[in-house]
Amino acid sequence: MNSIDYIESRRDANLAELVEFLRIPSISTKSEHKADVERAARWVVEKLRGQFEKVELIPTKGHPLVYAQSAQVPGKPTVLFYGHYDVQPSEPDNLWTTPAFEPTVRGGNLYARGTADDKGQVHIHLAAFEALKKTEGRLPLNVKVIIEGEEEVGGESLYTYVKQNGERLKADVLVVSDTSMLAPGVPSVTYGLRGLNYYQIELTGAAQDLHSGVFGGAVPNPLTILSELFAKLHDKNFRVTVPGFYDDVATLSRAERKALNSLPWKLSEFKKNVGAPALAGEKGFSVVEQLWCRPTLELNGMWGGYMGEGAKTVIPAKAWAKFSTRLVPDQNPAKIARQVEKHTHGLLPKTVTCEFKVLSMGKPWVATYTHPYFGAAHRALEKGFGKKAVFIREGGSIPFVTDMSDTFKIPCILMGFGLPDENAHAPDEHMSLENYFGGIKAAAYFYEELARA
Ligand code: BES
Ligand code: MN
Ligand code: MN
Repeated sequence: MNSIDYIESRRDANLAELVEFLRIPSISTKSEHKADVERAARWVVEKLRGQFEKVELIPTKGHPLVYAQSAQVPGKPTVLFYGHYDVQPSEPDNLWTTPAFEPTVRGGNLYARGTADDKGQVHIHLAAFEALKKTEGRLPLNVKVIIEGEEEVGGESLYTYVKQNGERLKADVLVVSDTSMLAPGVPSVTYGLRGLNYYQIELTGAAQDLHSGVFGGAVPNPLTILSELFAKLHDKNFRVTVPGFYDDVATLSRAERKALNSLPWKLSEFKKNVGAPALAGEKGFSVVEQLWCRPTLELNGMWGGYMGEGAKTVIPAKAWAKFSTRLVPDQNPAKIARQVEKHTHGLLPKTVTCEFKVLSMGKPWVATYTHPYFGAAHRALEKGFGKKAVFIREGGSIPFVTDMSDTFKIPCILMGFGLPDENAHAPDEHMSLENYFGGIKAAAYFYEELARA
């Protein structure tokens, strides 16, 4: 039996196994789920044991890392496969059609938290490794696996591990499935991601909350001032007003601009998925450019004052906001953070004090996709799906990719099997079963092709 026949014969078994993995609520941000996160890590360890010579659960200050290394195959390239077994929280739970951690098949999709991001995509590779091992007696090339449990909370433990034990992860190529395909039936290799800086600010006015009748009219309201601040961070063309923000943004070559804008991507589909009355993007750029190649500043949350039932006449003493910037080549995260902080302080009146925190910083990544491994990935996707594959960029961020690309200067192959409308981080997250099964075949083809090269 060849690996593809094996994969076909294991459809139900693979799906059942993925369901088991998805049932574990490995929510990395919540301490009450610490044991579940560890259970998910151990689940991955058990799964890898059959195929890999060395399998380790690596404890960290946070959540464990899972590392595996296959038996040596001299003369063959070494691939490092990366993924994450942690997931986002499921709230708001009442908006899920079926519970987040009770995986359910509906209309050709599997619904559960972690299907698209990223347990489903990790499982695609675990299933491909198994097929290769079972049908060929060994993995046809050198494979290292690193699966982390803190991706959704910044990936600090993995970052530290790379700094201290980087050599262990050395490989000829990094393989990641934590992104999306351009559209259904359009398998995609992603060659660019945006970087992410995350900020939080706290404004303080009065020494304590004040009665809005007794004090209102004479004192500052931090919540109003915070709203005014955010209203000033974009102009009417949806450009970010932070001075210097766009200074280092690399201009797209005419060739790349043309290639990206002629992809089989439909604005009408995008608008339908978004569901807003109208779009709001930076003037002068196509939506694809806005999403993948332009930097942004987004307000992620803002709070303070009274948010309970009914009315409470109060002038809050404090107001808070969380916001972030997505960065593109060649912006420098530290420089952007300084510019954003300076501009914020400059816009605020003397009536409030401001505590400005940079919670995390991350660089953008973009690759020239000329390395033969990119061609191999492209061909494997076309074989696995029987469809034409494309090269795309995306707007999300995966810090480990930038890390590996900088540390080892190796090609990073991002073959995503999610879809942009699969509700990652939202209620009713799901994954197309066609992409799940097609992904297993594509991954197997890819590793076989690397082994032949
Ligand atoms: N899988 C996503 C990243 C992603 C999504 C890349 C879609 C490309 C397309 C990842 O799990 C994620 O959510 N990343 C975070 C950043 C992280 C530092 C918390 C993000 O992009 O917001
Ligand atoms: Mn992810
Ligand atoms: Mn995510």
